[in-house]
Amino acid sequence: MDFIKDDLRTELNKAGFAFGKRTFFSLLGVSYYLTEEQLTNLLITISSFAPEGSSIVFDYGDEHMFNSDVRRVQNTVAMAKEGGEPMQACYSYLELEKLLAKAGDVMDKEEWILCPVCKNKTRIRIRQDTTLTNFPLFCPKCKQERIQHQFDAYCKKVLRFTASVNFD
Ligand SMILES: C[S@@+](CC[C@H](N)C(=O)[O-])C[C@H]1O[C@@H](n2cnc3c(N)ncnc32)[C@H](O)[C@@H]1O
Repeated sequence: MDFIKDDLRTELNKAGFAFGKRTFFSLLGVSYYLTEEQLTNLLITISSFAPEGSSIVFDYGDEHMFNSDVRRVQNTVAMAKEGGEPMQACYSYLELEKLLAKAGDVMDKEEWILCPVCKNKTRIRIRQDTTLTNFPLFCPKCKQERIQHQFDAYCKKVLRFTASVNFD
């Protein structure tokens, strides 16, 4: 399967993957072929269905990968490009930690929605499988109501597993 074009759940389903069973995922040798956004989304997708106790192993290129003075690293990057599978991203340890935190955020089963205006907790709690369309979010603290953009960005992160989220 292609991690960029194909839907992981669909492909795993076709292959007879046992959803619901604790799983060890190996993504070795792949992360650098994905952009940061693609890797984040892939990890988020995995965390959306992997039961508690599952784990994943992957390697990554460090922040010097694209400007390394080590010949072996330069050759690896050049060969991947020549082979039609250019490397896309590398990370410092801190950057990777942030990426994982982003993916980890959505592992929570439920989250309180924060007010996009005053950033306080509203009284609305959503789950990974909650769907909301044109939801007018009223904040009991600042008494403002908002439907779109800032809120949209927040909810897409939390609710990215639901296809029908639409706050526009
Ligand atoms: C370095 S090899 C690692 C193979 C294997 N995972 C292993 O550990 O031996 C990288 C593999 O990732 C594959 N790859 C690159 N981009 C991909 C993508 N978007 N979706 C799926 N596989 C991809 C390449 O075709 C290649 O087979």
